[in-house]
Amino acid sequence: MNRYLLPVSVLGTMVGGAVLFKDYVTGGVCPSKSTIPGKTVIVTGANTGIGKYTALELAKRGGNIILACRDMEKCEAAAKDIRGETLNHRVNARHLDLASLKSIREFAAKIIKEEERVDILVNNAAVMRCPHWTTEDGFEMQFGVNHLGHFLLTNLLLDKLKASAPSRIINVSSLAHIAGHIDFDDLNWQKRKYNTKEAYCQSKMAVVLFTKELSRQLQGTGVTVNAVHPGVARTELGRHTGMHNSAFSSFMLGPFFWLLFKSPQLAAQPSTYLAVAEELEGVSGKYFDGLKEKAPAPEAEDEEIARRLWAESTRLVGLDVSRGSSVKG
Ligand SMILES: NC(=O)c1ccc[n+]([C@@H]2O[C@H](COP(=O)([O-])OP(=O)(O)OC[C@H]3O[C@@H](n4cnc5c(N)ncnc54)[C@H](OP(=O)(O)O)[C@@H]3O)[C@@H](O)[C@H]2O)c1
Repeated sequence: MNRYLLPVSVLGTMVGGAVLFKDYVTGGVCPSKSTIPGKTVIVTGANTGIGKYTALELAKRGGNIILACRDMEKCEAAAKDIRGETLNHRVNARHLDLASLKSIREFAAKIIKEEERVDILVNNAAVMRCPHWTTEDGFEMQFGVNHLGHFLLTNLLLDKLKASAPSRIINVSSLAHIAGHIDFDDLNWQKRKYNTKEAYCQSKMAVVLFTKELSRQLQGTGVTVNAVHPGVARTELGRHTGMHNSAFSSFMLGPFFWLLFKSPQLAAQPSTYLAVAEELEGVSGKYFDGLKEKAPAPEAEDEEIARRLWAESTRLVGLDVSRGSSVKG
């Protein structure tokens, strides 16, 4: 009996240590118990991963949830799952393809016409490290979807968000923004050799800069906007990377992934927290790493770059600046 005591206690310590380490690395759950009955929430890219669990967490809190996705079959299936799990029947699927300015305009027009209010907008959808694809309007895909698509969507919904104030916008960025740089000479990768990683990092840098400039413009309106890194999670985000598709990495690195990666449910906690926490009332223009506010990379704090990116984005998506948040055509 005694000869098993040592190995068993060593194993127990290792397992306990691994669980504690995992909790430390992967972060905590949203501490707020706030509910949001009567509030309307839009979550982009909500058919899977972090977006789906963000929608689920907010549905549990009683919101009227709109899942905004490009694939309606997956979107309806996610909405059904969330209704089933939360017993909140005000969870609905709507079509939104962020790689199409036309689709974004159609989605926004429908929301403006059919919804009385928009209290929470979670700009969550993203594509990571895809091949050198372009959107319907010719923008490099990662910059086009992750930044420009959400830039246009948010601007189109601003009047509704202002009319529903206090309201909140959550821009899901990534720690990867720290390796990002905005190349104003070639925002859409037409001159440089395409680099999938750098393109993702640039798009996530753009998301933080957009947050900063939007927050400045929204001062005094009751609408807040913050950016967040949700943590590293086991989702479909790596679908375009070799690592995600390799059986070797799934099998051999599985235990490390378990230890170091969050579940999508846990990775949805920071967006949920930013959407509902009472203590964040009025907090705007900040970057959160998980549940904690942190300084983003120096370039993301540069007001000059943020303003220049705003001006370029406005031009690229065809926003009519003379008409505030409304657009041409
Ligand atoms: N997972 C991580 O480790 C991690 C780390 C840092 C930051 N993030 C950020 O967290 C957010 C959620 O990512 P995730 O990990 O949950 O990834 P995911 O599982 O791949 O989900 C991404 C979502 O975005 C949607 N999407 C992609 N292109 C779209 C388009 N053109 N129009 C509308 N929706 C589109 C996807 O729809 P389809 O299913 O139809 O493709 C999917 O619903 C992203 O902003 C990501 O950058 C994630």
